[in-house]
Amino acid sequence: MLNATSLLREDHRRVKELLSQLESTTERGTKRREDLVGRIEMELKIHSKLEEEIFYPAYKNAASKKEDKELFYEATEEHHVVDMVLPELKASDPASNEFGAKAKVLKELIEHHVEEEETEMFKKAARLMNTTELQDLADAMVVRKKTLVAQWENPLTAPFKKVQSAAEKFIGTSVKNAKASVIGKGMKAMKGSKSSGGSKSSRGSKSSVRSKSGSSKSTSSKRGR
Ligand SMILES: [Fe+2]
Ligand SMILES: [Fe+2]
Repeated sequence: MLNATSLLREDHRRVKELLSQLESTTERGTKRREDLVGRIEMELKIHSKLEEEIFYPAYKNAASKKEDKELFYEATEEHHVVDMVLPELKASDPASNEFGAKAKVLKELIEHHVEEEETEMFKKAARLMNTTELQDLADAMVVRKKTLVAQWENPLTAPFKKVQSAAEKFIGTSVKNAKASVIGKGMKAMKGSKSSGGSKSSRGSKSSVRSKSGSSKSTSSKRGR
């Protein structure tokens, strides 16, 4: 069975591997550097979209304690920092020392962020959401990922992708936070009245946590008791 956090962990493993490969390149391997940066960019952009559109809003919605919510805000800020560093890496000359330094900074940034997600946020998510909710989130992310990958690989959408990518740098996190709140509320509404407190209930309840990207699945929830 697919689970949201294991799906995200798989992405983490892949991008960390690519960043390690990038770190081991030299100024002479310019082509290899460019290839790797392109792959890293695709992995990071798609992964952060899945988190920002689907996983983070669901997490924020499920979190009721202040310190649990703080992880959401921190993670969103860290995505923003990556949005600032990545274009700089892309713009720097792969034959320069500067490129190597920027690649190292990006790697450290990602490793720190991934570590925090995996050791704190994902663990809390597993406590705040039940198995069905985590599976529904995974399903929604699989669907969304297919669309994002297709968009990324389609030459017709490439110019739009570049504009969007550059715009990320200037979108403040307040916009992302507000967006997450709206999505989270939408998810809550779809789940109906069942979700208050995010209790880890047993198999009895099957609720829909589809985001705007996924189709809404039928909801059969055993009320009360
Ligand atoms: Fe993240
Ligand atoms: Fe992540």
